[in-house]
Amino acid sequence: MHLTAEQERMLEGEEGEAVRKGMELIVALGDIYGAERLIPVISVQVSGVSYKTIGDAGLEFIEDYARTMKKDAKKVRVKTTMNPAGMDLEKWTKMGVDRKFAEKQLRIFNAYTSMGIEPSLTCTPYYFVSEPKFGEHIAWAESSAVSYANSVIGARTNREGGPSALASAITGLTAEYGLHLEENRKADIIIDVGFEPDSYMYAALGNHLGALLSKMGKKVPYFKGINPGDDEMKALGAAMAATGSIALYHVENTTPEWKNAVNDKLERITISEEEIREHIKGMDRDCEPELIAIGCPHASEKELRRVAELVKGKKKKEGKELWISVSRAVAERNPDAVRIIEDFGGLVLRDTCMVVSPIEKRFHSTAVNSGKAAYYLPKESFCGQCVRFRPLEELINMAVEGET
Ligand code: F3S
Repeated sequence: MHLTAEQERMLEGEEGEAVRKGMELIVALGDIYGAERLIPVISVQVSGVSYKTIGDAGLEFIEDYARTMKKDAKKVRVKTTMNPAGMDLEKWTKMGVDRKFAEKQLRIFNAYTSMGIEPSLTCTPYYFVSEPKFGEHIAWAESSAVSYANSVIGARTNREGGPSALASAITGLTAEYGLHLEENRKADIIIDVGFEPDSYMYAALGNHLGALLSKMGKKVPYFKGINPGDDEMKALGAAMAATGSIALYHVENTTPEWKNAVNDKLERITISEEEIREHIKGMDRDCEPELIAIGCPHASEKELRRVAELVKGKKKKEGKELWISVSRAVAERNPDAVRIIEDFGGLVLRDTCMVVSPIEKRFHSTAVNSGKAAYYLPKESFCGQCVRFRPLEELINMAVEGET
């Protein structure tokens, strides 16, 4: 790989140990994937923030990195945001998080902020916090944000791991391979959707297709016959990224790169409404939810306001919890919606979500409308839950006094 003179110096440690380590990792990845050079990135998003997901080993790694950066008197070089943590930094006692977990979570947060990383704690940094533009190169780690940035915005990022995103933050660079290159952004399969899904069906479609495409060895689907809005694309992409590592998709007449993404020689499959309804039967288990959790990925302003509209003036059922996860930016811009939901008895959580917080310590059953959450929450997965997968309006009814 060709390195500039400045990059060679960074690799040799002239800018300190943290930069050297970062360069070493990026160059190694570039070598593995056949990159010819390193390119600058406009922004970085780091994952590996929740103590639940990274544990003590991750905490030590991050604190060690933070100490090295302090010794070198270095901070991150580009705008860098953080994925959600295992708790709302202010409302963690209301979530039922224990003090030991909270202390370790705060150590992770402090280590990251000491490096100059913004305390955004969201998987939707593209809402008001870090908004890349079409064609810009970025290095993001959260899979749903990677999908949204590539597909809906047309920015360019591979799905970074925690350490490689951190390395890009420290060096301002990434290796030019994968989705940074035009030729890898073309579709490799056409999906004809034989019906117009609603929001809920988009989440199920993504959950089903991610796994199916992964089995078929496909990476970049091109959708025909659908007309999704931004929230639907967020739900579709997050679910496909979770069940099948799909980091980029195109939608005819909708996403920014659709025109040059397809040719008529591609393999084609059709997905019917019946197939998705059948798939939902496997996602929606038979249990009474203790927790109703909305906002995976973190809710948009429109989604937050819709929840407020649905609960306005109503009373929450005894024994049910309602959580809406949002970014701080979205909560701060919508104080009325937050107040309505909290007057109802729900919790509007910033900084965290139902998957990366330790909900298994408190709940056994959770209802969601997210295809990604429905993948990570079940007993056999990451959070030990019996999962209901239902549309938003039904979820709210489950939490409202007097509704069934
Ligand atoms: Fe975001 Fe948590 Fe879902 S990090 S994408 S809300 S699993």
